[in-house]
Amino acid sequence: MAKTIIFLGPPGAGKGTQAEKLQKNFGFVHISTGDILREAVSKGTELGKIAKRYMEEGKLLPDDLIIGIIEEKLKQLKDKNIILDGFPRTVKQAQALDELLKKLGRKVDAVILFQISDEEVIRRLSGRRIDPKTGKVYHIEFNPPPKNIEVIQRDDDKEEVIKKRLQIYHSQTSPLIEYYKKQNKLIAVDATKPPQEVYNEIISMIQL
Ligand code: AP5
Repeated sequence: MAKTIIFLGPPGAGKGTQAEKLQKNFGFVHISTGDILREAVSKGTELGKIAKRYMEEGKLLPDDLIIGIIEEKLKQLKDKNIILDGFPRTVKQAQALDELLKKLGRKVDAVILFQISDEEVIRRLSGRRIDPKTGKVYHIEFNPPPKNIEVIQRDDDKEEVIKKRLQIYHSQTSPLIEYYKKQNKLIAVDATKPPQEVYNEIISMIQL
């Protein structure tokens, strides 16, 4: 059966960074709801127009809208090993995911919980920079971009929005920790370590 792994954790915990590594080294398909929404915003689609309003304020989009997007993706990727990064983010999304996967004859195999403090998240996100041409993610302190590259900052990486995103994570997303603990699927990793150490910890804990 194709594998489904969820990356759960606060904004800026390094979920995207690790998902890219697993995609590159093990051929997982990386599904990031944030990336899907940012692409829609940059193309100015109907979805993008709605998403922009929510994302700028650090708020979550309505569950049904996001569940619909994931349903389409899952149908297209029936036999692929996938990493879900940024979904589910509410208990309603998690319940919908369980139903969708069941219909497709698959299940959540593991949920990796990225553990990190709010202070560290603020430090990481306020220093995050992106190469708009390649989408490659840098950090001004931990992984500085080459001098010849013009990088940009995400609109929601401003300090007031980061604080709002953290608040929403603690109130709406952190209940998923209990949800997956009860299903015996939760694997916690120390996300404060350097990227390669976090990666080694993840691959030692999931069966690939
Ligand atoms: P989304 O794009 O999913 O944002 P997020 O969860 O807040 O996650 P980030 O992308 O900010 O962080 P990350 O954990 O991937 O960290 P990264 O690897 O980049 O969502 C954005 C918005 O979309 C939401 O606010 C919401 O509005 C909407 N949305 C998305 N999904 C939704 C859903 N399911 N329902 C409703 N709305 C939804 O790393 C961060 C930085 O740290 C980088 O600079 C990186 O270089 C650096 N770094 C990474 N790892 C390390 C390390 N180990 N040590 C030092 N530095 C590191």
